[in-house]
Amino acid sequence: MKTAASQMRVLIADDQPDVLEALRLLLKREGHRIESADSPQQALHAVENRDFDLAIIDLNYSRDTTSGQEGLDLLANIQKVDSTLPVIVMTAWSSVDLAVEAMRRGARDFIQKPWENERLASIVRTQLQLSEAIRRGQRLEAENLLLRGENVPTMIAEAPAMRPVLDLISRVGPSDANVLITGEPGTGKEVVARTLHAISGRASKPMVTVNAGGLAEGVFESELFGHVKGAFTDAKVDRVGRFELADTGTLFLDEIANVPMNLQAKLLRVLEIGEMERVGSSKTKKVDARVISATNANLPEEVQNGRFRQDLLFRLNTIEIHIPALRERREDIAPLATHFLGMHARRYRKNIVGFDHNAMQAMQEHPWQGNVRELNHVVERAVLMTQSNCVRASDLALRVGAMTAGRLEEMSLEDVEEFLIKKALARYGGNVSHTASALGLSRSALYRRLQRFGL
Ligand SMILES: Nc1ncnc2c1ncn2[C@@H]1O[C@H](COP(=O)(O)OP(=O)(O)OP(=O)(O)O)[C@@H](O)[C@H]1O
Ligand SMILES: [Mg+2]
Repeated sequence: MKTAASQMRVLIADDQPDVLEALRLLLKREGHRIESADSPQQALHAVENRDFDLAIIDLNYSRDTTSGQEGLDLLANIQKVDSTLPVIVMTAWSSVDLAVEAMRRGARDFIQKPWENERLASIVRTQLQLSEAIRRGQRLEAENLLLRGENVPTMIAEAPAMRPVLDLISRVGPSDANVLITGEPGTGKEVVARTLHAISGRASKPMVTVNAGGLAEGVFESELFGHVKGAFTDAKVDRVGRFELADTGTLFLDEIANVPMNLQAKLLRVLEIGEMERVGSSKTKKVDARVISATNANLPEEVQNGRFRQDLLFRLNTIEIHIPALRERREDIAPLATHFLGMHARRYRKNIVGFDHNAMQAMQEHPWQGNVRELNHVVERAVLMTQSNCVRASDLALRVGAMTAGRLEEMSLEDVEEFLIKKALARYGGNVSHTASALGLSRSALYRRLQRFGL
């Protein structure tokens, strides 16, 4: 007898009670959990509402006992609901053609009645093994695409202003509490999210990221919740959503302010009761994901302006961690710069030992509107540009921060673009949607530029 954990769920559908009973006894002996249905409607209803590993369905039901049409329709309907569920069909011994037709339409195997117990058990075993492998494969493939390293990231935080941040991280990290991380662009929100996950009890499980800002509205829902084949024109196959991928692990919702209103309601429901449906499916799935979210927008303000649901905000910010801007923790500039220098020098195989005095001074005084990310980017460029074994102030090329509109004519087009984007970002408190519309750019166009400029 198998243990409960490896128990397979098998649906059997036939309109003859004695057939159902015989199948039930046989499969129970194999250690499976059985659910029976005595009509195609009942079978379909079961598949729509619960997960199975295998379905064994008769092709002929009382309404039309010989053509097999009802069974073939049921097969097609099951495939619409769950295209990875293997189906074995049963036919009377005389209707080989019907069995062949069902195989052509996607049945995995067939059993002729009356069956031989040993043969039936072996067909079932094979299909269950296959089904497990296929489903595992589908999951792994998606996970591999999404997951990066799961080690604790390097997080430099020596400034006194970072003490409350470190304190909160070490207190709430190990819990399952939902955490909202706020801070200007590039302050290290993702680093904090990764650290929280890495020190939690879920560390050996995936942390799956969804960037609400980088996705078109139309695909966002299916990214988050998955979809079933046929749910919309492009849905050619079933797709596992990121919520399901994050099951038992952590879901990192980045740029949470950009979640469209209608999806905020769905998100709220998963957070409240831990249940969701794939797009196009009515089957409810349980998910257990710890949710860490991040934003550079002012969410209470978004709530006031009717762009963000208050109840969702309350769900997300059980604990809020605010990361100060780099200019508010200048003590971190030197250690961060040294850390990035070592990283990039290794990567580009350059023998650089450090920064000279003027370079350090220039970095200390720079406003760092792009925060840690800008610092990283500046150091990387300096490592590539410098001709000596020590980075000098001129290698840093920290001109953008000191720029004023009066010198626009001396700037390259690229610099002007970067300058204007930084100004707009600062004006809108780092809110990407507002910045994009102020600049007359689409959100994704703005994102491409932010990436290009290392903002
Ligand atoms: N405290 C830190 N120690 C080391 N590296 C850091 C730290 N904070 C940020 N970084 C690095 O700076 C870069 C930007 O950090 P991150 O992506 O976490 O910022 P963010 O707040 O999520 O930015 P955005 O709002 O643009 O998404 C990354 O390369 C990250 O590794
Ligand atoms: Mg980020």
